[in-house]
Amino acid sequence: MDSQTQMKQVVADAAIREVKSDMVLGLGSGSTAALMIKSLADEIRSGKLQNIKGVATSFQSEVLALELDIPLIDLASLSQIDLAIDGADEVDPGFQLIKGGGACHVREKLVASKANQLLIVVDETKLVQNLNKSFPLPVEVIPNAWKQVQEVISEMNGNSSLRMATKKAGPVVTDQGNLILDVLFNDGIKNPKDIEMKINNIPGVLENGLFVDLTDKVLVGKIEDNIPVVYSPSRAT
Ligand code: 5RP
Repeated sequence: MDSQTQMKQVVADAAIREVKSDMVLGLGSGSTAALMIKSLADEIRSGKLQNIKGVATSFQSEVLALELDIPLIDLASLSQIDLAIDGADEVDPGFQLIKGGGACHVREKLVASKANQLLIVVDETKLVQNLNKSFPLPVEVIPNAWKQVQEVISEMNGNSSLRMATKKAGPVVTDQGNLILDVLFNDGIKNPKDIEMKINNIPGVLENGLFVDLTDKVLVGKIEDNIPVVYSPSRAT
């Protein structure tokens, strides 16, 4: 196992220690969340966790939960979720996030917004001082609006590119049937709340990957003296 996967595994296992029986759990997306879902399935299978219901944040997490016999419940039938556990692409010191590296941020944000607690699990490569200096902000747009949205983002000093698929000709198509623009602003993102609202206000945009004031706790995996360990940083105020 390479060191990044070791960091992801240790933090995925630590996240499951925050889960209690009878919880409704938001099941995040991406490779770290997938490891967390597998750890969850182990705990359910062993009987340590009982009466867990999962809420999928993507086709990926839905399929994984089905394969691992984790009972699923539809987001629309719930008024609240006890705990959502998800990965992130960037985490700043105030726990503001960029998500959507897997193009799943629409449902991830819906689930996070309904959760009493959002627990973010990352390896330490995801911690940044300032958002969007290197990781582009994913923006989901309806298919026939992508060019128009790109022009508006360009007027906001954002350079964007249409995310292209691998193993398929053409663009990535999201779980909702839309496209993704990946946006790098010239100076990064200094005011995530403002940028989140401004981008979502562009006609044709469904949702962007800024998660502002949603995160309650972050668990970080790192390698110390060749051993994977977990810590929970305090939020900077
Ligand atoms: C998917 C996400 C993921 O949580 C994010 O991309 C992190 O993924 P990984 O754990 O594979 O690095 O937001 O839309």
